[in-house]
Amino acid sequence: MDIKDKKRILITAALPYANGPLHIGHIAGAYLPADIYTRYLRLQGREAHFICGSDENGAPITFSALKENIDPQEVIDRNTARLIQGFAGLDIQFSHYGRTHTPHHAEICQEFFLRLHERGHVVKKSGEQVFCTVCGRFLPDRYVEGVCHYPDCLSPGARGDQCEKCGRPIDATRLGDPVCMVCSTLGRESRGHIEVRSTDHWFFRLDNFSSDLRGYLDRHPEWRESVRRFSYGLLDQGLRERSVTRDMEWGVPVPLPEGKGKVLYVWFDAPIGYITFSREYFAARGEPEGWRDFWQDDSNGLVHFIGKDNTVFHAVIFPGMLQAHGDYRLPDSVVANEFLNLEGDKISTSRDYAVWVNDYLATFPPDPLRYYLTAIAPESADADFSWRQFQQRNNGELADNLGNFIQRNLTFCLKYFAGQTPPPEEPTQAGKEVLHEIALARHDMAEALDDFRFKAALERLMRLSQRGNQYFAEEEPWRTRKTDMTSCARTMGVGIRLVEALSVLMAPFLPGSAGKLRNFLNLPALADGDWEAMPPPEAPVGTARQLNAAQVLFPKFDDLVIQPQIDKLRGS
Ligand code: MF3
Ligand code: ZN
Repeated sequence: MDIKDKKRILITAALPYANGPLHIGHIAGAYLPADIYTRYLRLQGREAHFICGSDENGAPITFSALKENIDPQEVIDRNTARLIQGFAGLDIQFSHYGRTHTPHHAEICQEFFLRLHERGHVVKKSGEQVFCTVCGRFLPDRYVEGVCHYPDCLSPGARGDQCEKCGRPIDATRLGDPVCMVCSTLGRESRGHIEVRSTDHWFFRLDNFSSDLRGYLDRHPEWRESVRRFSYGLLDQGLRERSVTRDMEWGVPVPLPEGKGKVLYVWFDAPIGYITFSREYFAARGEPEGWRDFWQDDSNGLVHFIGKDNTVFHAVIFPGMLQAHGDYRLPDSVVANEFLNLEGDKISTSRDYAVWVNDYLATFPPDPLRYYLTAIAPESADADFSWRQFQQRNNGELADNLGNFIQRNLTFCLKYFAGQTPPPEEPTQAGKEVLHEIALARHDMAEALDDFRFKAALERLMRLSQRGNQYFAEEEPWRTRKTDMTSCARTMGVGIRLVEALSVLMAPFLPGSAGKLRNFLNLPALADGDWEAMPPPEAPVGTARQLNAAQVLFPKFDDLVIQPQIDKLRGS
């Protein structure tokens, strides 16, 4: 069954590494579209659960601990607290936010691993690994860097797990000019003492699932082209077995006697986190078996939102793991976004070249960012965040189009209809056309949102508001109020109906502002199903309902608040 027709859907967003704070690239990549989608489904009266949590195992965490010279536990505690704060500040609301460094998660991962092992899909092999003779340890994943070994890439600074440039998985023993990142972090000579040594590891026979995975992709022609192209590319190159253990202390211990001193690879445990957290969530709701509806029953929906660098894991490896386990179904969709750049340059955590969510929130409300990041969403190509453009789009679109339309209608009624919506009057032909436009916009937006085209849905919302402004200007209620109060009430009845509709249609994108607007309108807070409950075009307008005092919903930002943000970036 098509995801569009499913009534119960579980949504996940990539588990953020608990090794640093959130920046706008993370938000645009996964969390914001996932949040919009969840809110939309609920407004439509569909059941939606939004699952996320911190990715707390693996080299990203221990490597940060090494750099900061603190305990990994401290790294994850501090960052998980910050991540939760950042999400909350942007009104990104999860049904459950878990953590992967817990005994419960370890147990579920070990069960998963043992099942694959029993079925012969995980096999032990002695393999080659890079080893630093100065540190006296193997260098998993990002502990080693060098020149990417794909002949058509060859970029320097490729990490032992993945090349950031071409996005493909790296075999660390084949990196050119390898550097030990422990030594380099500690200020020691980091070249020249890396050897390749053999060590035992367990490998997931992903190659056993080549044809299953091809069939899976074939069944989903509706997925984004970028995800399909990338995944078919990997299948065409031929899938290889993948090492799923590491010589490390921090993480989920390998549950086999010969696995002492080794842990499961973080990319093995993290996606299983989606399952762990789903189980935790349903258990807390008193439905300990509820998670199975989404993970084991194809009649319900399961959708992953990710940034494009995670595509290989979500569209190929994790589905392979689920298939290998045998008790799971495969996700309906993997929605991956391209990258977000910043003022024409790549966002870089290490160079502190980013807009950090918590910094943003110190100065601005959440909705202008939610608006701008959706308006430029990197859905089919990389996008660029620019502070000037953020300012222009806030001022020119949110404030001058949407905000202005809402404001002029509310203010008018507050002033000239004694603080009420207009009395019931039959709309004119022009008014009826506008009412019809509402139904059309709602339909187009639903079509776009069901298809994960968030940017198009937002554009459609803004076109509706623009249409409202045009109607207001043509009808000139400020003039008719002096000459023909009935005609004025006809206009304003339609205007207020449109404002009411906007308070629903804008809610997935701008939830905080929609909530305020509902209050100005003296309507109840939005509830599940309200998208469907909107009145049809032929329903009478004008309800003579008392309004509440209204404030400006979308203030403009002047240069004085924008310029310091630009200066801050120049300084980094
Ligand atoms: N922590 C990873 C990242 O930030 C994403 C993990 S997603 C999951 O790139 F599938 F592993 F959960
Ligand atoms: Zn070293």
